[in-house]
Amino acid sequence: MTQLIVTTREGDTRELTAGAGLSVMEVIRDGGIDELLALCGGCLSCATCHVIVDPADAARLSPASSEEEDLLDGLDHRAPTSRLSCQIPFDDDLDGLRVTIAADA
Ligand code: FES
Repeated sequence: MTQLIVTTREGDTRELTAGAGLSVMEVIRDGGIDELLALCGGCLSCATCHVIVDPADAARLSPASSEEEDLLDGLDHRAPTSRLSCQIPFDDDLDGLRVTIAADA
């Protein structure tokens, strides 16, 4: 099992455990953190699954697609390591990944 470390908007940090085959968004949602709305369910159309990846972990991820970049560009709170969590496949290589749920758009 692989660990994802999530900091909520209130600053609480939780360690979530997940098997293979889920996105980071799905791991957060299945972990019971409901402040990540993920309204489109992972279809890359809402950007309500915005997270900020710990800068120390950013290079572990594949680059964002142009479609993801377009949605990120429309966010008020975009940070240098912002990503849409539904676009990050969570696998064993990402064990210990740290993300913070971004402020509401
Ligand atoms: S859940 Fe809608 S873009 Fe990620």
